[in-house]
Amino acid sequence: MPDRPRMLFSAFNEFVLSHHDQGLWAHPQSRQLELNSIDYWVDVAKLLESAHFDLLFFADVLAPYDIYKGSREPAILSGMQTPVNDPGELIPVLAYVTEHLGLVLTQNVLQEHPYAFARKISTLDHLSRGRIAWNIVTSFLPGAGRNLGYGGLPSHEERYARADDFLDVVFKLWEGSWEDDAVVRDLVNQRYVDPSKVHEINHVGPYYDVVGPHLSEPSPQRTPVLFQAAASNVGIDFAGRNAEILFTSLERSNAASNIAQLRAEAVRAGRRAEDVKIFGGLSFVLGSTEEEARRLDKEFRDAQSLEAAFAKYSAFWQFDLSLLKPTDRLSDILNGTVINNDVRKVLGFSPDVDWTLEEFVRWIATRRAVGTPEQIVEEIEAWQDLGVDGLNITYVISPGTFQDFADHLTPRLIERGLMRSEYAPGTLREKLFGAGPYLPESHPARAARAIFT
Ligand SMILES: Cc1cc2nc3c(=O)[nH]c(=O)nc-3n(C[C@H](O)[C@H](O)[C@H](O)COP(=O)(O)O)c2cc1C
Repeated sequence: MPDRPRMLFSAFNEFVLSHHDQGLWAHPQSRQLELNSIDYWVDVAKLLESAHFDLLFFADVLAPYDIYKGSREPAILSGMQTPVNDPGELIPVLAYVTEHLGLVLTQNVLQEHPYAFARKISTLDHLSRGRIAWNIVTSFLPGAGRNLGYGGLPSHEERYARADDFLDVVFKLWEGSWEDDAVVRDLVNQRYVDPSKVHEINHVGPYYDVVGPHLSEPSPQRTPVLFQAAASNVGIDFAGRNAEILFTSLERSNAASNIAQLRAEAVRAGRRAEDVKIFGGLSFVLGSTEEEARRLDKEFRDAQSLEAAFAKYSAFWQFDLSLLKPTDRLSDILNGTVINNDVRKVLGFSPDVDWTLEEFVRWIATRRAVGTPEQIVEEIEAWQDLGVDGLNITYVISPGTFQDFADHLTPRLIERGLMRSEYAPGTLREKLFGAGPYLPESHPARAARAIFT
């Protein structure tokens, strides 16, 4: 008997060889070496749809991870998120071979002018029949700023100020530029559009001046479903005002207050609590017995690159971990003055302050739920009890992790009511929120609808 509210499931991915568990592309069961092949990605997308996933999420970065040792070498040596192809080019193919799967594109606001970006997203939303989401990021890699002509990464505040202006532009284009009945398709008089219902936006902002009008006619969702994964105060404030799906980046034992804060921030911004969904993250290894799962997990751990993990967390925590020694004890590091606040905060989550830095990085890089399918389902239920609406599933090997999910978790989750047994009709927003295809009226972007008419 189904006894639980339904949760949402997203497959965390990137158009790369190796996303989060570095080194495992070499595992005999991995197909990750096929990263440049359409066939591989088509198979992944179809597998996810057969497993009833709601979303295929593409993360993206615009530079190699380059903070650790002040060098890109440790990251690219192991293929960690470099090479990375453009997910925007892959999404139309995946939209063609699937019917219901939501497709999440990450794009950072430094990367492209909002006028061109707005058209790109509208195009994808048309081609996918309204299944596009945008993960709004401001980038955390100094190299991205250098590559995009900013001479380094602009400050946090500056990046989010630019993001605000970027959103103003795209919201005006998506929501306000074309009225709902602008497209008339009048065959008799050969009038496709009523020009009086297509408006310039005349945006003049601190970063962008855009006249308009928008180049695409309104797509099924107008504005794509909006994702954001903020951790800082300025980021959480931005996410609370704008995002429909927010991530907590913390592991389960530390996530409760963060989940409450994210939801409260949206309500504080004048939005309804039900218009925002919070996602946690889960990585898992399962076996038919607990012992088999533990053995597999150990096999995966032994094959993982520690050096790549140091490179990854140096970028996430904005601190070059090579300034510390791997053998340094956490208690000594915490008592010292070398680390920044981000590192201080995450080290505080360590189960043991007597661990060395290397032990801690190994632990944080390989935290997973390990056990039988029933035990993994219990872990998913524990996340739900904490207040999340969905989970972003990180693969250990691809597509093996998603195949395990399809074979062993999907049937059990459906049985308990935790997963949909059939996709709902309509656009992605309708499937996720059970309401209309457009942003709800309480979202600030909807204000753009009225201002040009
Ligand atoms: C689940 C998840 C996915 C993320 N995906 C990306 C990404 O694809 N590209 C990116 O530049 N940053 C990504 N980030 C980083 C966030 O956008 C953000 O920079 C980070 O959480 C720090 O928050 P802050 O901007 O408030 O400091 C992701 C974070 C999380 C938790």
